[in-house]
Amino acid sequence: MKNILKRLVVAGLTAVMVLSLAACGSSSSGSSSKKSSAKSAVAAIKKSGTLTMCTNAEFAPFEYKDGNDIKGIDVEISQAVADDLGVKLKISDIAFDSLIPSLQAGKADMAAAGMTVTEDRKKNVDFSDTYFDASQAIIVPKDSAIKTRTDLNDKIVGVQTGTTGDTYCTNQDGSSDIKVKEVRRYNKGMDAVADLISGRIEAVVIDNYPAQKLVDQNSDKITLLSDSLTSESYAIACPKGSDLTDEINKVLKDLKDSGELQKIMDKYISVD
Ligand code: ARG
Repeated sequence: MKNILKRLVVAGLTAVMVLSLAACGSSSSGSSSKKSSAKSAVAAIKKSGTLTMCTNAEFAPFEYKDGNDIKGIDVEISQAVADDLGVKLKISDIAFDSLIPSLQAGKADMAAAGMTVTEDRKKNVDFSDTYFDASQAIIVPKDSAIKTRTDLNDKIVGVQTGTTGDTYCTNQDGSSDIKVKEVRRYNKGMDAVADLISGRIEAVVIDNYPAQKLVDQNSDKITLLSDSLTSESYAIACPKGSDLTDEINKVLKDLKDSGELQKIMDKYISVD
């Protein structure tokens, strides 16, 4: 009898151990977000004294080079996050299609780059709340026969590599109703516009505000169609599970509530 009791107790204890091990397993492997937020990104940023933001400064008015400085709406928002954390802002200017890999490799804390929230990107990064609505616009030479979005069918179109304009024109997600003849990819919207002006391509597809800036600089040669291709919203991307996302949301809310975000937008969107 004593023996049976002992065996029962041992079996019971083993069951408890197995169950608790299983529970541990599922909580650490089940959610990668929990795993990395256990190491607080915010705490690490405060400790190092630097918030590293990556961007692609070829996208006025959101980010652009002014001499040695990088300026724009995303820079001001990022600076507000750095100020709120009481740290310095460091900007890493890289190719647009390197931004998400850079976050995944832990080389930057956040990407602020007029980045559109997409389902595909959400698999690899976390997005903050959105702060701007945009669309893909179409730029053509002034004398172009392209007058509407469907005129893009069978045309040679320039896009910025890895952007939603690229996804749309190459129909990577199957959501496009336009079938262009060829998509040429550029690292800078400005280079696409140079090829448009010299006649190597027939249209450029890029976000509406940057498109407007590019047209303003060359208004004697190119124009913006009133048709657009998509509706999108911009947000700031962080590595999956980073607790910086909540901090950014707090700062975005403060900027929105105080009217400061609108002031930043007005400053960059009305001034050339
Ligand atoms: N909104 C578009 C996208 O997310 C284009 C963004 C390009 N941004 C830049 N800084 N070059 O794909």
